[in-house]
Amino acid sequence: MDTEPKFFETNPTAGLVGQPLTRIDGRAKVTGAAKYSAEYNNLPGLVHAVLKTSDVAKGRITGFDISAAQKQPGVLAILTHQNIPKLAKTPNDDAGKKAIGAPMGFLPLTGDQIFYAGQPVAIVVADTLERAQYAAALLKVQVQVEKPLASYEDPKAKLFDPEKIQDGKADGHTRRGDAQAAFAAAPVQLTHTYIHAINHHNPMEPGATTAHWEAPDRLTVYESTQGVTRTQKSLSTMLGLSAEQVRVVTKYLGGGFGCKGASWPHTVLTVQAAKAVGRPVKLALTRPQMFTSMGHREDQQQTLKIGATKDGKLTALIHEKTSTTSPWDNYAESNSKIINLLYECPTFEATYQLARADVMTSTFMRAPGEAPGSFAIECSMDDLAEKLGIDPLEIRLRNYAEKDPSTGQQWSSKSLRQCYARGAELFGWSKRNPKAGATRDGKLLVGWGMATASYPVHNSQGTARARLYADGHAVVQSGATDLGTGTYTVMTQVAADGLGLPMEKIRFELGDTRLPTAPNSGGSVAAGTVSSSVYMAVQDVWQKLIKVAVLDKKSPLYRAKIADVEAKAGRLQLKTNPNKGEGFADVMKRADLSDIEGNGQGRYGSGYEDAQAAANADPSKKDEVGHHSMHSFGAHFCEVKVDPELGTVRVTRWVSVHAAGRILNAKTARSQIIGGSIFGIGCALMEATVRDQNLARYTNSNLADYHIPTNADIPEMTVEFIDEHDPYINAMGVKGIGEISMVGVSAAVANAVAHATGRRVRSLPITPDKVL
Ligand code: MOS
Repeated sequence: MDTEPKFFETNPTAGLVGQPLTRIDGRAKVTGAAKYSAEYNNLPGLVHAVLKTSDVAKGRITGFDISAAQKQPGVLAILTHQNIPKLAKTPNDDAGKKAIGAPMGFLPLTGDQIFYAGQPVAIVVADTLERAQYAAALLKVQVQVEKPLASYEDPKAKLFDPEKIQDGKADGHTRRGDAQAAFAAAPVQLTHTYIHAINHHNPMEPGATTAHWEAPDRLTVYESTQGVTRTQKSLSTMLGLSAEQVRVVTKYLGGGFGCKGASWPHTVLTVQAAKAVGRPVKLALTRPQMFTSMGHREDQQQTLKIGATKDGKLTALIHEKTSTTSPWDNYAESNSKIINLLYECPTFEATYQLARADVMTSTFMRAPGEAPGSFAIECSMDDLAEKLGIDPLEIRLRNYAEKDPSTGQQWSSKSLRQCYARGAELFGWSKRNPKAGATRDGKLLVGWGMATASYPVHNSQGTARARLYADGHAVVQSGATDLGTGTYTVMTQVAADGLGLPMEKIRFELGDTRLPTAPNSGGSVAAGTVSSSVYMAVQDVWQKLIKVAVLDKKSPLYRAKIADVEAKAGRLQLKTNPNKGEGFADVMKRADLSDIEGNGQGRYGSGYEDAQAAANADPSKKDEVGHHSMHSFGAHFCEVKVDPELGTVRVTRWVSVHAAGRILNAKTARSQIIGGSIFGIGCALMEATVRDQNLARYTNSNLADYHIPTNADIPEMTVEFIDEHDPYINAMGVKGIGEISMVGVSAAVANAVAHATGRRVRSLPITPDKVL
């Protein structure tokens, strides 16, 4: 039997883009050949570092007793704030924060203050991992302990009103029309408060750094990050080096979900440790350390007021969010953005309140803002439907936004109606019993729920290089990251498709600052920006080669006009007469070109260039150009069965239909939506990090006590995409699907639970105690 993965299942020269090809890195991953950032074990003299972290959340270090630790065999260095090599800049002041660029929070080992439990207080280096761990255990830290504040829920927490929340997406305040007056005048009013537990990302691969000083001023870092360029910038700035002196490599990533989107202290601490011992140093965070080292989704509470007419049309939306932040930043997910644009509503108001607590900073986590924001709006929409006796899908259609309500802009494309219709058909939504708590399967209560999803196409730029060889292979490069979801595969498809070569003749390289710059793989920008960069690089190859052909007396294209020649399936030919032309290899061989290189830039909104050209031809369309709101949309449908005696909830059926522009690979895209939906089901039913309110420490910082779904918790899932052509967003028309996959999921589950039981739970996760 043929057990080789078949990643070449289609006609190699026609229509590779979109094909459901198996991941080309799959074999390397399952055989262990794929090298992750903590697996560069052949570096000369590689040694191991571990972090010693603080057990207390607040206090001051008064001294260290390093005598026992230092005496252990193999110990090379015990670095604390007293002896660690100094940095040129740290994020601990505003100027440093600004220069470093990447969000990072506070850098420890810079002073004697302890700001959060889990804060590194020392980094211990030894010749083996076990010796470093043992020495760290023997290291004694004397601390003057103070009473910490654990969250906004503590009555002693002072709430403040940030002018700007620090996630780059929303202001602290948004107002559109007079929402207060509209709410007061609304015939139907709903006010509900939603609570969201702390969530941690928990990628399979923890944060990990291998730091190698190849010369006193030349550093290579193998880093588990979603962005090598962002890491390069933060490290070079802190070290006082030029970007060129710092190389960052990330060939494989075992998941990220946003926690690897920023820069975090363990990375630069490892680099400093390598400097101190003069040898390459490797550090991998432990699972418990993952709960205090790379951010989390913050504990938060949202109050949403909805004003509506008696026939269910929205007239007012007022959103207030309160969440916990760290002692040194103003981070909050911008939940209000999605609430402001999901439905047509003439008035809107949003405010944010923060409380400082003695905790590690929160950060981006899959669909930051959109995921919890959609929980509030999508539960409240169902409440409105229930109150007025309208079907949940129908109430959403009645409020369908034909333009972006938050800006008044036209959508670049929106296929949400098709998502609703196809999802409802696949799920059998029309057979839903309108009465809650009235459908049973034996003793189990059965509930059906649905929710809308949306995610923006974020502004993003990137570059790529394609080198085509006369012997019929190509190397294509972009310094992007593959989070594990298929970047290697889809970029190979785009390149192979454009070059007219089989998949196996393309080598796509990523994850290295020596390659052309690509954006951070975050905010769902990688698929669209990098594929557009690759596409443009391939077009550049053809343009250069066409110029060679038309000057070559031996070419059938000699003296043809450049604009009259096209490249199709690896052949240069006349547009008007495809028979007149030749293969690229013939042109290259005669010109003695062993290879030819093209460069491309993928740009957000670059589809506008075509649109602008069209508008120039049709002046009546002029106003449409340059004024589009770009978003993907989707809908989730969920069936749950609830045990009325135990309060347990099982998701028994799932349908997701999304419209996200061009889908580059139907198989990896489906996997991405399945993964995001499971992520959301975990958030809805299981995931919660519990912070002790007295000690400000997590009580369940491990994967035994922090519950995530297993295979047995998840049913067969049905995923479909609506074919959508968007001419505005980028050259490939790709919107991205990493984040939208979990938007609305927790609401769909909560709505199904409410339908099953007749009781609305507004606090995530929906655990049995809340259902009973
Ligand atoms: Mo995504 S939370 O921007 O990695």
